[in-house]
Amino acid sequence: VSVWAVVVAGGSGERFGAPKQFAMLGGRPMLAWAVDAARGACDGVVLVVPADRLDGRQYPVEKMVAGGASRSDSVRAGLEAVPADAEIVVVHDGARPLASGSTFRAVVEAVRAGADAAVPALAVTDTLKAVEDGRVTATIDRRGLVVVQTPQAFRADVLRAAHAQGAQATDDAGLVESLGATVRVVAGDPRNLKVTTPADLEVAQALVAR
Ligand code: C5P
Repeated sequence: VSVWAVVVAGGSGERFGAPKQFAMLGGRPMLAWAVDAARGACDGVVLVVPADRLDGRQYPVEKMVAGGASRSDSVRAGLEAVPADAEIVVVHDGARPLASGSTFRAVVEAVRAGADAAVPALAVTDTLKAVEDGRVTATIDRRGLVVVQTPQAFRADVLRAAHAQGAQATDDAGLVESLGATVRVVAGDPRNLKVTTPADLEVAQALVAR
């Protein structure tokens, strides 16, 4: 079975203040870590970067393509560059530099075993509240809720169908769910944090230095 990865690093890093995927982590741009994690577990990697970065530094990937206005648009651009004979596609955020090979293997294995899709998830440990205009309006029962990470693995035909409508979602499993497909959950990894703010980068730096 041919397994390809799409690493999305096409964002502008609005909440970070700069394109965070190029911030340095342990002497290398953050997205180089994400590419390495994907390489170890997949037969090929498509890297999605902002259009103005296509001519810059090259990474050890099969293809580099320009991203779009939203994360979903960037995934679609990457998916178009995945060979038609790929049977499993793994989508991974360039902003998650510390994903492990075992997380990649776990999601791919779940799809090989028959799921349409598989995502790594962690139990919610904080208390969740709904807020409007700075005031709490409800406390949400966290039982049965998880937070979901990338890498997320998909049957390639299911992922292509989910993206065919041009819909938007914060992750790809969300698009696949709306097709009625089965999305399995595997154990997430607390170290596989998503770097969104400069504070997250400090945590990632501490984990890399260990
Ligand atoms: O913005 P957010 O942190 O949710 O982005 C998640 C991932 O999607 C990041 O790796 C980011 O670079 C990527 N992205 C993208 N194209 C966009 C927006 C986000 O590839 N237009």
